[in-house]
Amino acid sequence: MTVTIAVPKEAASGENRVAMVPKVAEKLAKLGVEVRIQKGAGEGSRIPDEGYADPIKVVGRAGDVYNADVVLAVNAPDPKNLAKMKKGSILVSFVQAHQNPEAVKALNEAGVTCFAMELVPRITRAQSMDALSSQASAAGYKAALMAANSLERFLPMLTTAAGTIRPAKVLVIGAGVAGLQAIATAKRLGAKVEAYDVRTDTKEQVESLGADFLVAEGVKAEAEGGYARELTDEEKAKQQEMLAKHVGQADAVITTAAVPGRPAPKIISKDMVAKMKSGSVIVDLGAAGGGNCELTKPGETVKEGSVTILGPTNVPAELAEHASEMYAQNLFNFLSLILVEEEAPEGEDKPKGPQPRKLAIDWDDEVLAKSVLTHDGEIKNEAAKEALQG
Ligand SMILES: NC(=O)c1ccc[n+]([C@@H]2O[C@H](COP(=O)([O-])OP(=O)(O)OC[C@H]3O[C@@H](n4cnc5c(N)ncnc54)[C@H](O)[C@@H]3O)[C@@H](O)[C@H]2O)c1
Repeated sequence: MTVTIAVPKEAASGENRVAMVPKVAEKLAKLGVEVRIQKGAGEGSRIPDEGYADPIKVVGRAGDVYNADVVLAVNAPDPKNLAKMKKGSILVSFVQAHQNPEAVKALNEAGVTCFAMELVPRITRAQSMDALSSQASAAGYKAALMAANSLERFLPMLTTAAGTIRPAKVLVIGAGVAGLQAIATAKRLGAKVEAYDVRTDTKEQVESLGADFLVAEGVKAEAEGGYARELTDEEKAKQQEMLAKHVGQADAVITTAAVPGRPAPKIISKDMVAKMKSGSVIVDLGAAGGGNCELTKPGETVKEGSVTILGPTNVPAELAEHASEMYAQNLFNFLSLILVEEEAPEGEDKPKGPQPRKLAIDWDDEVLAKSVLTHDGEIKNEAAKEALQG
């Protein structure tokens, strides 16, 4: 039986990404699977339906998407559509179970095996499947451009006949994947960049990009898996004290600080904003988690005196073409773990050329075991169980 893989049109408002782009869909089709794309799914990423060429099928009815063996999405589809999925079929998408208990419930009731992209372990072998990183890179890059665009000044130093322009100062808080990309982009635009992270091990990476690393004495908050832990009140105070001066001197502050499974840490206080330079800008990538600045309004751009605070909640969607391309490739690499070659019947040699594929899940594979959210009517992830219990 040919394996069917389908991709819905994303339903969330402002979500321009699509889980599958033509060039990756073609690679899937070459493996002998049937690829179905819901009509209009690529529109937001500038891919017309005709961009998905034969043998890829563009289907109009939601039923033809949700009855596939595998559904690939950016965000978990709504519960009504999840309920249409076949028992034993597979969903691979971002789910964010703690914010989306209804989806977990629907997936579980439908008996769907769901692999959540945010749960893919960040081990070397899974780097090519790491959609958190690919999307964070897009967000960090775009955040630097948003900051540049919101400023009424140049970023680079300019020596002109009309005088010398000093470079803008950009402060990046949080030097993970998004932060490092924001630093690199602001540097390429010619800004003078400073960066801070509670994981002091990031110093080397920050400096290798040509930025200055800021240190809050006595604050070092590395946790398991290369992530940060929440700070104690005493550590927070030390951090605020050190950062206040630098925030006050910056033209643009880009915040990307996050602690897995927790609301975004509040780092920039009202008071710090009040002391910022006239015309300065904050781009708060922590907005989706509530914001790294006390005054951020998620999804909005607000003015506090003469300071502009941007609180975008889905920045990768603003770079949809490339964010979709990278995400689709992440999914393709993930699928290679479960889309395995069929064995030749006993006593027969494998035929030459591409082998037919079948779906098979090897639960001894760490990547699959750690990224599974629901399987066979069971919630496999502790955090998701807790989210469901409220
Ligand atoms: N395959 C891999 O091995 C792999 C892939 C991607 C990322 N990683 C690692 O994961 C880690 C973080 O990745 P991420 O970007 O997804 O992290 P993230 O989005 O969870 O957090 C962003 C950054 O915010 C920082 N932060 C948290 N609280 C803060 C605070 N109060 N003040 C300042 N900064 C604060 C974190 O230390 C982190 O660098 C890094 O160590 C990265 O190297 C590993």
